[in-house]
Amino acid sequence: GKKGDLAGCRVVVTAGGTQEPIDPVRYVGNRSSGKMGYALAEEARDRGAHVVLISGPVSLPVPYGVELRRVETAAQMQAAVFSAVTNADVLIMSAAVADFRPAHPASQKIKKRLGGGRGAGEGENTGEQATDGSFSLHLIKNPDILGELAQMQDLPRRLVRVGFAAETENVVENAKDKLHRKQLDLLVANDVTRSDSGFGTNTNKVTLFHANGVMEDLPVMPKTGVAAAIWDRVVSLLS
Ligand code: PMT
Repeated sequence: GKKGDLAGCRVVVTAGGTQEPIDPVRYVGNRSSGKMGYALAEEARDRGAHVVLISGPVSLPVPYGVELRRVETAAQMQAAVFSAVTNADVLIMSAAVADFRPAHPASQKIKKRLGGGRGAGEGENTGEQATDGSFSLHLIKNPDILGELAQMQDLPRRLVRVGFAAETENVVENAKDKLHRKQLDLLVANDVTRSDSGFGTNTNKVTLFHANGVMEDLPVMPKTGVAAAIWDRVVSLLS
């Protein structure tokens, strides 16, 4: 049976989306609900793993029996992941990490003003308000957590790495590229074009890309079922 097939295993799962502050009341974010990542964490717990769940802000109940570490930004998620993987056997990154963040979050709420000119936020170079009333935000690149982990050669033990990819086009090429560039054992390509799959839904449609070239198209399933299928593959990679 599957019960107990992750006993003694230490796993790290990331879930939800990161929020990158613009000012004290606003952020750049995405539509991740955390459902996929929480399903992965709960399935691993049920199979006997010790689970560290690194979660962006979500409105899901706290799962019992997992070590929950809450983060908001990509930088905080990176620090939490790097610290957790030093004694882990598996990392699954299902979080939707923001690729960019505002360069200098404003310390005061940015005010809209008629006629342009300088205002809160602009002195710190958060962005600029133009005379036509438009506002442009300066964004800079966030760390690529999986990408930087691929460069780290000094992990004390072998880490099985699973990444996700939310693609809207060229799914196969992009998935294969991410699998190799981020040195993953498994890449879960998530269909985000259908209404019963992707961000916020209870069901999901994924294609699995294995490092050895094998590709598996899974049917639409509840996210709990997708989580079980992913852990089945990880268990075979661990043995
Ligand atoms: O939370 P739900 O509502 O249930 O939705 C689930 C989901 C659709 C968010 C999830 O299944 C999913 O597809 N997550 C990955 C979304 C994504 O943004 O992928 P990406 O193609 O941008 O990133 C590829 C991989 O690199 C991911 O594993 C990601 O966690 C990781 N990454 C991305 C950016 C970054 N700066 N650092 C990273 O490590």
